[in-house]
Amino acid sequence: MHKTSEWLYSFSSNKNQKSSSRSLSVERFKPCTKISVTGGKGGVGKTSIALKTAQELAKAGYRTLLIDCDSNLSNTAIKLGLPLDNKFEKLLSAESPFEEVLIQQGNFHLLPACNGSIELFESKLNFAEIIIDIISSHEHEYDYILLDCPAGVSREALTLNAFCDHRWIIVTPDKSSITDSYSLVKLLQSRFGIKENHLMVNMYQTEKQYQKVVTTLTETIQNFLNSKMHVLGGVKKVEVSAEGFDTFFLSETKSEWHKNFAKLLYGFTEKDGGPTAAQSLGTSLMAHEHDVH
Ligand SMILES: Nc1ncnc2c1ncn2[C@@H]1O[C@H](COP(=O)(O)OP(=O)(O)O)[C@@H](O)[C@H]1O
Ligand SMILES: [Mg+2]
Repeated sequence: MHKTSEWLYSFSSNKNQKSSSRSLSVERFKPCTKISVTGGKGGVGKTSIALKTAQELAKAGYRTLLIDCDSNLSNTAIKLGLPLDNKFEKLLSAESPFEEVLIQQGNFHLLPACNGSIELFESKLNFAEIIIDIISSHEHEYDYILLDCPAGVSREALTLNAFCDHRWIIVTPDKSSITDSYSLVKLLQSRFGIKENHLMVNMYQTEKQYQKVVTTLTETIQNFLNSKMHVLGGVKKVEVSAEGFDTFFLSETKSEWHKNFAKLLYGFTEKDGGPTAAQSLGTSLMAHEHDVH
């Protein structure tokens, strides 16, 4: 195994041990949960789902940090309609502290990356190591840290996936997405010993289509890779124009679609989390239900 991976994987296998900073923190119910939103293939909805999840968790009262790991094709700020500034370069060169690069909106914090930075392109920095250092220095400040992963199965992307407590693998019903997800799980298993991941089916149109993706992937991965896929649920394809998509996806409407997304997250946090967490998402979910009926 690569040396860096060994070092990083040791973090992953120690994930249930509390760091000294965590044990000093009296108000915590549980350590920070780190989730990578990933999937191998581009355009399957990783960034949209990572953003939506981070915002929903923040709304529910969790201190949430989203780190854009698509280092030089950062899309998170774009989707939020924020100006792009490549400030992340300054964090890499240690000219700016983390707090100066961070975008803060209440409980929701975003660390955007760069867009076409020549300095970043030319640099020999190990991006995964940098992100892991950032997480290690700041995880005590957050309940959740989400990574919006780039497409592909580069060593850096896999390393970041392996470092996290959970990997949410975003899959769409098309064959290439299903195949790429299988390849990702295979590499995570064989190179990092990861045997559990979560599956989220995005952009499905019918229940039958959703079930087919779930069955195909869970069974194949169980049978051939001896790995477990926990099914998070599905996010239906929304019929809005490309221009209107981000606004719809990230809005706070009480539509059936948004209610379903909140339910899916509640299902996860309930299993994962501390009492405050589940309660607050539950409260926001009940508020949705109250409005709908
Ligand atoms: N649930 C969905 N319904 C309809 N279109 C979607 C959905 N999720 C994603 N998309 C479309 O896919 C595009 C790419 O999404 P994005 O989150 O940037 O993917 P990735 O980060 O995996 O490349 C979005 O801009 C949107 O047009
Ligand atoms: Mg993306």
